[in-house]
Amino acid sequence: MPQDQETGSTFKMLLDDAAARLGSRLEADVLLAHLLACDRAWLYGHGTDACPPAVESSYMKLVERRVVGEPIAYVTGTREFYGRTFQVDRQVLIPRPETELLVELALELDPPTRARALDIGTGSGCIAITLCLDQPRWEVTAVDRSEAALQIARFNRDALGARSLELRHGNLFEPVSDRHFDLIVSNPPYVAAGDEHLAQGDVRFEPGMALVAGDDGLDIIRRIVAAAPDHLEPGGWLALEHGHDQAAPVRKLMESAGFDQVESHRDLAGIERVSLGRAR
Ligand SMILES: C[S@@+](CC[C@H](N)C(=O)[O-])C[C@H]1O[C@@H](n2cnc3c(N)ncnc32)[C@H](O)[C@@H]1O
Repeated sequence: MPQDQETGSTFKMLLDDAAARLGSRLEADVLLAHLLACDRAWLYGHGTDACPPAVESSYMKLVERRVVGEPIAYVTGTREFYGRTFQVDRQVLIPRPETELLVELALELDPPTRARALDIGTGSGCIAITLCLDQPRWEVTAVDRSEAALQIARFNRDALGARSLELRHGNLFEPVSDRHFDLIVSNPPYVAAGDEHLAQGDVRFEPGMALVAGDDGLDIIRRIVAAAPDHLEPGGWLALEHGHDQAAPVRKLMESAGFDQVESHRDLAGIERVSLGRAR
């Protein structure tokens, strides 16, 4: 890092000031480390270095975005998922740790070696890209209704080397209307339209299309469960992430649609978060 004698601020002074404004030393560190493309250890080792004015001004802009509540993943443009770094922006949902359970369960299923898998509502592509990279023999297709989200998914696919992933634009099964799969996964929108959480925290900045699904949050899940049997091979699996209080209704929907071996799995917080069913 070049020294600059024209500014009075050292990295440590900037970090102390930002930590006080953010109420978090960790976030202050993460934002500066992101800007300088270094790790936190480097910051501690160079605390007394002078900070170039251009860096100081860029850093202040990042801190300001975070101070007004923008999620740190949007400010840095990245989020870790299943051990890989995904690019994110305000066009896509920020990948959540709960969704790693959906991926883990999908990877534990026993589809054919060259399974055809479909991810509905791929957003950043985090689920589909992970399946593609961790099961290179699977043929993975991902769909999203948002073209802006697909652009991010495309970037992540290319950056992470998931070359075989097929990305399609459209509504639910419409882009794959004539195709059958061994596995269908989805983390669909599942928040009820009037849910108070939509006005709180990170969620305020995320796209409504990624979150909201009708008055009870189950509109999209109902449509996926109803249509999935027409797109699954016999014995194929449907795996859905859902809200903390939706496991029972989702199991009921799956059972009514004729799925076997319907069961829900708990996330690390002990909440039933993912439900599976097997096509007859
Ligand atoms: C909850 S986000 C999940 C994103 C990503 N799969 C993840 O787990 O982080 C739901 C995604 O579904 C997409 N979506 C919403 N309605 C859709 C529809 N009718 N057809 C296809 N995709 C849809 C949204 O654009 C959004 O990217």
